[in-house]
Amino acid sequence: MAYFTKEGFLSPFKSFATQAVHVGQEPEQWQSLAVVPPISLSTTFKQHEPGKPAAFEYSRSGNPTRNCLEKAVAALDEAKYSFAFASGLATTMTIAHLLKCGDNIVCMNDVYGGTNRYFREVAQTMGLTVSFVDCTNLEFLKSAIKPETKMVWIETPTNPMMKLVDIKGCAEIAHAKSQDVIVVVDNTFMSAYFQRPLALGADICMYSATKYMNGHSDVVMGLASVICSDLAERIKFLQNAIGAVPSPFDCYLCLRGLKTLNLRMEQHFKNAMAVASFLEASPYVEKVIYPGLPSHPQHELMKRQCTGCPGMITFYVRGDLKTAEAFLKNLKVFALAESLGGYESLAEHPAIMTHASVPEEYRKVLGISDNLIRLSIGLEDVEDIIKDLDQALRSAKIEDRK
Ligand SMILES: Cc1ncc(COP(=O)(O)O)c(C=O)c1O
Repeated sequence: MAYFTKEGFLSPFKSFATQAVHVGQEPEQWQSLAVVPPISLSTTFKQHEPGKPAAFEYSRSGNPTRNCLEKAVAALDEAKYSFAFASGLATTMTIAHLLKCGDNIVCMNDVYGGTNRYFREVAQTMGLTVSFVDCTNLEFLKSAIKPETKMVWIETPTNPMMKLVDIKGCAEIAHAKSQDVIVVVDNTFMSAYFQRPLALGADICMYSATKYMNGHSDVVMGLASVICSDLAERIKFLQNAIGAVPSPFDCYLCLRGLKTLNLRMEQHFKNAMAVASFLEASPYVEKVIYPGLPSHPQHELMKRQCTGCPGMITFYVRGDLKTAEAFLKNLKVFALAESLGGYESLAEHPAIMTHASVPEEYRKVLGISDNLIRLSIGLEDVEDIIKDLDQALRSAKIEDRK
């Protein structure tokens, strides 16, 4: 098995596990003193006088279970406020509503396919303009920011090409142009355990909590954390005014998932390092892209801005579409499925599945070709994960030769 070390990475964030277990969940806040936060299903709350609600009034604007989750996430992101939404994309949409007609968003050119589709096919038709820019090069970002630019949207590592963006560098450039530019980081791939964008100068840290933050592939949810109270007030207003909020039950599940986030991420990292090293040595693999490996061109940046590396690995199988399809069909431990960040290992074909909505010519520029595979390495025994990949690669090669 590959030698595993976290040497050179940022030190773990202090008291992370303690905060995940306790913040926002103090038993004294409800009469029963229940240690586990109750699921508050009520959509409405009794008022003592008309127009003078106590803590809550209506569950879209605020809900006790959602409140517990939002407080815990704010602590884990080293933020002051956090807001939960019905999905990652609902979070993206709500954040985009901070802008007005005519404003420009500079967006990293390699982002989740749904984010790309939302900006191109929805936000642009509503009057925003979006410039897709390779923000791995800070000079490109600098020249792309124009007077109308009011938001910079980055994702790091990117989905699926695992490119890294220097968060601190981007925030400094954007804020030097204007303090009004809102820097948003999609932190889905890293989770709060491995990366803290707000501490690096970003204004909003958002997630598809559907992935690592919940971690059990049973909740679709989004989160956004901020430090600035003005920004928090505007997002809170939009959370209620647009209304894309999650159910109390989903909030409960996500809060439960967060309690093991540190343990899960550590194991995802260990398993993925072993898998990436195995793939790199395989004669059936053309190239492995994993920021935890020294072969990744931005490995040093990874260590500088993160406390570890998640379980996402992208690789080019040696062959063509037929080989890639045969490989995916032959997997047994891995499920062939979209999504990522759960306890189970998943494999997918970005060009046909998650990134099919990205125009073909654009996919080509990014390197999302027919032999590109994306893996989400789960928490199974790593020997079984590697054995499965090995047999699927061998069978794909044999089928390829037929
Ligand atoms: C990086 C990233 N951001 C945002 C999203 C959208 O999140 P959701 O599917 O929860 O709407 C996804 C979904 O895959 C994603 O991978």
